[in-house]
Amino acid sequence: MSTGSTVTTASTVDLTAARYRRHLSTGRAALGEMFGGDVEVCARGAWVRTSTGRELLNCGGYGVFITGARHPRVVAAVREQLDRNPVATRLLLEPQAALAAEALTSVTPPGLSRVHFACGGAEAVEAAIKLARANGKRHLVSMVDGYHGKTLGALSATARPVFTEPFRPLLPDTTHVPFGDVAALAGVLERHPGSACVLVEPVQGEAGVIVPPAGYLPAVAALCAEHGAFLVLDEIQTGLGRLGHWWGGDRDGVVPDVLVAGKALGGGVVPVSAMVATEAAFAPFDRDPFIHTSTFSGAPLGMAAARGALAAIAEEDLVGRAGRIGARLLVELTRLCADVLGDAVAEVRGVGLLIGIECAVEGLAGELLLELMEAGVVANHSLNSDRVLRLTPPAVLDERERQYLLDAFERAARAVSS
Ligand SMILES: Cc1ncc(COP(=O)(O)O)c(C=O)c1O
Repeated sequence: MSTGSTVTTASTVDLTAARYRRHLSTGRAALGEMFGGDVEVCARGAWVRTSTGRELLNCGGYGVFITGARHPRVVAAVREQLDRNPVATRLLLEPQAALAAEALTSVTPPGLSRVHFACGGAEAVEAAIKLARANGKRHLVSMVDGYHGKTLGALSATARPVFTEPFRPLLPDTTHVPFGDVAALAGVLERHPGSACVLVEPVQGEAGVIVPPAGYLPAVAALCAEHGAFLVLDEIQTGLGRLGHWWGGDRDGVVPDVLVAGKALGGGVVPVSAMVATEAAFAPFDRDPFIHTSTFSGAPLGMAAARGALAAIAEEDLVGRAGRIGARLLVELTRLCADVLGDAVAEVRGVGLLIGIECAVEGLAGELLLELMEAGVVANHSLNSDRVLRLTPPAVLDERERQYLLDAFERAARAVSS
């Protein structure tokens, strides 16, 4: 793997930490030091290389890398676009945005045909909340422990006091109901006939990989239909193959009014997100193309990345691979946790390549994260749950890499249990 730089000595680590401390965040600098103080300099496929030459298996990245890093299909598309027009005037029509919208809607559920592109996930959620409001759906209902990003609108739906309290007042007219509780949702929707927007993740990611009871999502969709509410599926973490289906909603055949995608959409190369809506839902944005805009929305470079990522996912059957690899990993990790950690792990759960290990002991998830790094694997903590370690491996993981993950996990588990 070429690092593209010859400056890969220990001084890179010190200088980077010092610059973080001076210009970015002392907290981030301290966290970096806690994780061994190494600096990430290069990535390819399932691997990340550090400035000291360590190779780490990337099962983290908050779910971005379904195609792995620098997938050749994505890189080729982006390189070609870089030499043409990476950013467009926005006054003229531009083919890449149109082609990317066509490619994306060819894999979204039937009827979802209209797209607004953005860069980050929260931006796409904002667009969905605004679209709902423009349609008269002004009461925003989201789920306890749900995560939708940290811009003010998205934050109003994100449910963790440590993130929300410093920024109050947030959006008015919001309610949080327990995830998986159909009756609680029905109660709220009855009080807001024709004027609610329900924002929900098919599987809650940052809450610690919470899989809802069977039949929950179809029941939510039925309630939305009954009470004239908008249904927005936040597929930023669950979509694009992560769960072994193109979309989390596909597991139950649920088609929302609006779907939001992000993370994997840019193929791990360019930040891209999208809000995809039915023609009827999109009508207010369709009528006035300036009612909701952003300078870099649909920028050709990101559009090329999205087309490359969608092509790579389809051509390499990454959706099917995520389902198959994830199912095996879940069994193997469950066995490993039971053998090595016993009652210290409350549950290993997940769908596809979104796997959560819920610890029964305070602080254990953090220790496991540190020991996994030591053993050569990058994992995720969970933003809305301190007890759950999350693994989000890429679907390009091969047999050797899968075994590497299990061996490293066993070493980490033994280290924390000793
Ligand atoms: C389900 C979900 N929605 C929204 C977001 C916010 O995305 P971003 O961090 O790109 O703004 C995330 C990020 O983790 C997410 O998991």
